[in-house]
Amino acid sequence: MLSTSKPKCLGILASGNGSNLQAIIDATNNNIIPDTVVKVVISDKKNAFALKRAELANIDNIYLNYKMYNSREEYDKAICEILNHYNVDLVVLAGYLKILTSLLINQYKDRILNIHPSLLPAFGGVNMYGMKVHQAVIDSKAKHSGCTVHIVTEDIDLGPIVDQAIVEVLESDTPETLANRILKDEHRLYPVAIAKYLQDLGSTTK
Ligand code: GRF
Repeated sequence: MLSTSKPKCLGILASGNGSNLQAIIDATNNNIIPDTVVKVVISDKKNAFALKRAELANIDNIYLNYKMYNSREEYDKAICEILNHYNVDLVVLAGYLKILTSLLINQYKDRILNIHPSLLPAFGGVNMYGMKVHQAVIDSKAKHSGCTVHIVTEDIDLGPIVDQAIVEVLESDTPETLANRILKDEHRLYPVAIAKYLQDLGSTTK
């Protein structure tokens, strides 16, 4: 059956390879995230492959040079203006490395999701990104790690959890092998969590 309601609009912030972005684009195309379009991709890194992925998918993509702004707030204000222009319903952080200011977090309160490659609240926080997360997990001798989709609040990586996936840590794991295994689960978890969250958002705003 064809839906007659207006599609939901996603705005994605990404700094790197954008494999999660790709999983989300694919999921909007094959109805895992139904009635939803990725409207714009914004990056703080000029050479982020995420921008190229957006271009290849015919999605507007914008590089915002941090050095052109006087402060983190000014930078986030520019991001908000773009998101507002595209009527974004939900902001999705997909490997975005900048910490958001309260300006952006408050404008899009409860409408910003992030994915973190650990079982939060464990191995999260300011300095926990990239391989540092996986190295810390291995050093701790934890038997399990995974990934977490959460709502972004001012407490870094401590916003309400939307969903998690558990991944076994093997004795032979290096940070890279563990990261790769978790990333595969991120690609599965993030689209499903976004779809569910959008559905819940829709039912509370109706
Ligand atoms: C992912 O592991 C994500 O959890 C983290 O950064 C990585 C981004 O990968 N926040 P990609 O850019 O989506 O490929």
